[in-house]
Amino acid sequence: MSGRLTGRRAVVTGGAAGIGRAIAAAYLREGASVVIADIDAAAADRTAAELSGTGEISALGCDVTKSSETRTLAGEATRRLGSVNVLVNNAGLSGRGLITEIPEDRIDALLAVNLKGVILCAQAFAQGMYDEGEAVMINMSSQAGKRGWPELSVYGATKAGVLGMNRALAVELAPRVRVNAICPGYISDVGMAWRGWEARVQTEGGDAAGIGRRFAEENIPLQRLQSASDIANTAVFLASDEAREITGEAINVGGGVVMD
Ligand SMILES: NC(=O)c1ccc[n+]([C@@H]2O[C@H](COP(=O)([O-])OP(=O)(O)OC[C@H]3O[C@@H](n4cnc5c(N)ncnc54)[C@H](O)[C@@H]3O)[C@@H](O)[C@H]2O)c1
Repeated sequence: MSGRLTGRRAVVTGGAAGIGRAIAAAYLREGASVVIADIDAAAADRTAAELSGTGEISALGCDVTKSSETRTLAGEATRRLGSVNVLVNNAGLSGRGLITEIPEDRIDALLAVNLKGVILCAQAFAQGMYDEGEAVMINMSSQAGKRGWPELSVYGATKAGVLGMNRALAVELAPRVRVNAICPGYISDVGMAWRGWEARVQTEGGDAAGIGRRFAEENIPLQRLQSASDIANTAVFLASDEAREITGEAINVGGGVVMD
């Protein structure tokens, strides 16, 4: 099959569910070969089986917070794909909490998955991608890494940290690896934001979609939430030759909730 990503051999972390799954599905549709890596190996296997009708995909279990596992992932994914020329550092953890209340173990977990995990994956894949050339790294940040929201100070710190690494690696790995970040807004259909709307039903009543819609109308210039496929479309673009002159950027896909 020929598509915008033919010849791309991609690893998507956190690919079992949510945005990562949507990216894996979009990459397959565009002709890439994909390995999804997730701490939930059984869910990753299920996702790979469900998407296997549309292209070459397989799954690996990996906890991105452990360098022994990210190194094994890089080795095994490279063996399966031949080489890796796209890495999507998508695995992430949500965690709200006032700074006066958020427990230390939640702080540790957020830093470990959202920041250290991205660094360890970048470290494990960087040399291979550099040697390969024409490679692309995409780091999942958030509009919370650029703009302040209450209860998102720790999450926001991890996502701002990703942007710091993103800029430095774009210089360090140039000209052979393009490194860009995506800053999604609030996703309406799957993933951590969707679970957040669902959780608010307990206290606010109504339904999750309605709560999300009201939030969007009050806070987002385009007055709507985004979908996982909006993020996947951007991840396709960044991995394609259409983005060949773009590196070190952090692209907002949030309906205007952040403009910079
Ligand atoms: N959903 C949103 O509205 C939103 C907004 C902005 C940014 N993001 C970011 O997008 C990314 C994906 O979010 P999502 O909403 O799809 O989340 P999700 O919770 O639906 O999916 C995250 C996936 O990452 C995996 N994962 C968690 N810890 C891991 C670990 N230690 N090692 C490997 N895999 C691990 C989970 O098992 C899961 O499959 C995250 O980095 C998140 O911070 C999401």
